[in-house]
Amino acid sequence: MEDSRLAVERHDWAALAEPYRIKVTERIRLPDRAEREALLAAADYLSIRIDAADVFIDLTTDSGTGAMSDNQWAALLRGDESYFGSRSYLRFEAVSREVTGYPHIIPTHQGRAAEKILTELLVRPGDIVLGNTHFDTTRGHILHRQGVPVDCVGDLVWDFSTPGDFKGNFDLKKLELALERHHTRVPFILITVVNNMACSAPVSMENIRGVKKLADQYGVMVLFDACRVAENAYFIQQREPEFADAAISDIVLEMFSYGDGCWVSAKKDANVNIGGFFALRDEVLATRAKELLVLHEGYPTYGGLAGRDLEAMAVGLHEAMDQEYLAHRIRQTAYLGKRIAEADVTVSMPTGGSGVFIDAASIYPHLSAEQLPAVAFAADMYLEGGIRIGGSLFTLKTIDVESGEIVERPFALSRLAIPRRTYTQGHLEYVANVVAEVKRKAPGNKGYRITYLPETMGHFFIRFAPLG
Ligand code: F0G
Repeated sequence: MEDSRLAVERHDWAALAEPYRIKVTERIRLPDRAEREALLAAADYLSIRIDAADVFIDLTTDSGTGAMSDNQWAALLRGDESYFGSRSYLRFEAVSREVTGYPHIIPTHQGRAAEKILTELLVRPGDIVLGNTHFDTTRGHILHRQGVPVDCVGDLVWDFSTPGDFKGNFDLKKLELALERHHTRVPFILITVVNNMACSAPVSMENIRGVKKLADQYGVMVLFDACRVAENAYFIQQREPEFADAAISDIVLEMFSYGDGCWVSAKKDANVNIGGFFALRDEVLATRAKELLVLHEGYPTYGGLAGRDLEAMAVGLHEAMDQEYLAHRIRQTAYLGKRIAEADVTVSMPTGGSGVFIDAASIYPHLSAEQLPAVAFAADMYLEGGIRIGGSLFTLKTIDVESGEIVERPFALSRLAIPRRTYTQGHLEYVANVVAEVKRKAPGNKGYRITYLPETMGHFFIRFAPLG
């Protein structure tokens, strides 16, 4: 489907005009350099510990940080706060059924609550869950159930510089090897769209069909982690010729048609500040899930949310499929990625959904991995421009295609996540210029060391100190 505006490669200025105008603003402040230095030191060089009021531009996450539309705000007033069977639930249920094609719709307060319930029902000790790349809460819930999350994403994902249209895909060879050896221990295959932990790269419809074929061969259920399904559908439309004329909503429906259910953090594509749900095809599983929901979240017609939240989610789910909105969002990410790459920084290419993913080692070639280049980059972004970014260093289990064995591989990335409808082109220019400035001054950075690492949830509570 041809977007009504011109392609970013041809005319940045046309494609990057925001397809909305601003009705409410929120003042942001850039503390001066001395303040920033003091604040970062007081936060032990972990910028998530800095108060949000002291951050100028916050690119830590695209989750729950988006700006709701006028229609979403208006919908809040329609919220029916009845404990049982509220009108708001019925409206939300109808929209979610229409979007997913699944009959059983169960709200939760956010994505991980759905993960908790489904892993509690489906994962037994020793089970292996095969995903393209599991998000860290998913990984955590599977481990909590004494299961083993195994990531079957293609090895190309480790190579930031080599382009690929669908680097979030399963390597079907890995999936087949894993199923051949372990299928009796595999409760479900999880397709994460877009593949957030793999630089938010999309998954193709062809790949989803391939996963479904293998799953059927071995009689294994397929679920989607679908918080950014609309972004993924946009990439399918733009990059798989078969879908060039298809509407986003139809692509989403076809994707879901290859699965048995999904869970959704509505804090991403559905653009609410809090909310989530899961949707299932199987009535027996849905009934058991609803029973657990009462324990963990609440009665199935509110699931840990207010009626008004359900209204905002229903509107947000429709808005997420809007062609013009999606085109702008994906181009914003592409534009920032292009500008950063121009500063001679290695960006995962092509850029994907939730933000721009960077190999921080390319900014600090003089630092070894032990001198923590990603920590240096996050610190420098705050020091230089009051910008907060995210990052991850994790070890995933994947399949060695030669031996078929499960092997461990580390993966490091820095993420400049872009909240939806929140920052303008002016902000993105600012961010790109700050990255260039950080890169220019990088040779002076002597790296960081860890001063404290707690056993659980280390990356939220870790502390650092500068070296040298
Ligand atoms: N699945 C994926 C792919 C996610 O990206 C997230 C959250 C979740 C599940 C969990 O949803 O936060 O509503 O409980 N990702 C955020 C991020 C936190 O920054 O990428 P949640």
